Amino acid sequence: MIIDWPALRAAAVAAAARAYAPYSGLRVGAAGLAADGQVITGCNVENASYGLTLCAECGLVSALHASGAGADTEAPLRAVAVVAGDGEPLLPCGRCRQLLLEAGGGDLLVDTADGPVKLEVLLPAAFSGTDLKQRREPRP
Ligand code: THU
Repeated sequence: MIIDWPALRAAAVAAAARAYAPYSGLRVGAAGLAADGQVITGCNVENASYGLTLCAECGLVSALHASGAGADTEAPLRAVAVVAGDGEPLLPCGRCRQLLLEAGGGDLLVDTADGPVKLEVLLPAAFSGTDLKQRREPRP
């Protein structure tokens, strides 16, 4: 699949401009390319109760599911660009790497200042739903 990285980054920049980040002052925008070609976006949303803050990638993954984009495939999300308010790439935090893994798998391409990198490089030896399936106790 052809990925238009400048367009994806521009969508992330537009989303960052709509962020609600009055506490940290760090606006973040995320844009994802779904398997069916749709571009989905998200921005960070902060709260006076700091711990409730939602990262941009959380909004993106929620919007991905809500839109149904790529829903009929195992990896609905194929590429993602995350930027700060300055328009430059921002590497997803640890929690968001885990969240993105479930939406796009290890082959998900993540935009970085040095070019696209597979998520499995940013989140090696990850815990996944496979561990859960294989290791959980049988239910009574
Ligand atoms: N933030 C994101 O939106 N995504 C990340 O991957 C890193 C951090 C946001 C959360 C918070 O609103 C602000 O950046 C400062 O941590």
